[in-house]
Amino acid sequence: MTTTPTKAQIIDGVALSKQLREDVARRTAALKTRGVTPGLAVVLVGDNQASQVYVRNKVKACSDAGLHSVLEKYDASMPEAELLARVEALNNDPAIHGILVQLPLPAHIDAHKVIEAISPTKDVDGFHVASAGALMVGQPGFWPCTPYGCMKMLESIGYDLRGKHAVVIGRSNIVGKPMALMLLQKNATVTVCHSATANLKAMTLQADVIVAAVGKRNVLTADMVKPGAVVLDVGMNRDDAGKLCGDVDFAGVSTVASHITPVPGGVGPMTITMLLVNTIEAAEREATRLEKLGNISK
Ligand code: GUN
Repeated sequence: MTTTPTKAQIIDGVALSKQLREDVARRTAALKTRGVTPGLAVVLVGDNQASQVYVRNKVKACSDAGLHSVLEKYDASMPEAELLARVEALNNDPAIHGILVQLPLPAHIDAHKVIEAISPTKDVDGFHVASAGALMVGQPGFWPCTPYGCMKMLESIGYDLRGKHAVVIGRSNIVGKPMALMLLQKNATVTVCHSATANLKAMTLQADVIVAAVGKRNVLTADMVKPGAVVLDVGMNRDDAGKLCGDVDFAGVSTVASHITPVPGGVGPMTITMLLVNTIEAAEREATRLEKLGNISK
């Protein structure tokens, strides 16, 4: 007997981003009627090629949605103290509601120190220790954009995580760890796998949801996936032909999973979209704070 392979439904990050960005544009217009134009500052130090593309896309996404944005570019030799002073100036700039310092930074700059210098009220990347702590204890804060985008993708297919087993592959501070906390907050049972995990396949075969966030091709293949699982691919790699690909063997896993995100066109566009969402959120909180202050002083 032959079985016909199923074909997973694609979760389209471009289409979902379009919807969410339309909402961002609406919220931006509403804020403008309250006298506030949401503003994002993007700071790039050095000439990392990939970073240049990323920041260009972030600034363009802002202008497309009606947000104000500034791109500050500095030479790779910029002293750490100078960068910290720029961050402090942006913390105090009323036209700026979100600050993003593009990573990686040159080796002579302590990235942790720079991130901690950003005001938590403007930390739209969600990288500050205060943001990480807020996520951990379930308090309002900013969620890191990539895992936040993954949650929106699950929401878009109406997926109820309660009681489901989610396996996250990767334990970075930017994706793996916050992803696990977000899934936990939605009542999933969460397993975090990493480079020292003894038997990855034994873990992933139990999963209803798999998030692959390692940065290595073919970390997840069809034989590692339970039929009907939902697979989110955060990876961004190049194959032998130089073509963009994720961490998941897309062709193979598509025949087993119920839903899957492609690369490109999956999680990638969602990261920038959630940056816009966080920036709008920051501006709305600031507008509300200022309005309350105004009412008090009247
Ligand atoms: N470098 C790669 N991705 C990111 C991101 O989402 N934010 C920042 N600040 N740097 C990055």
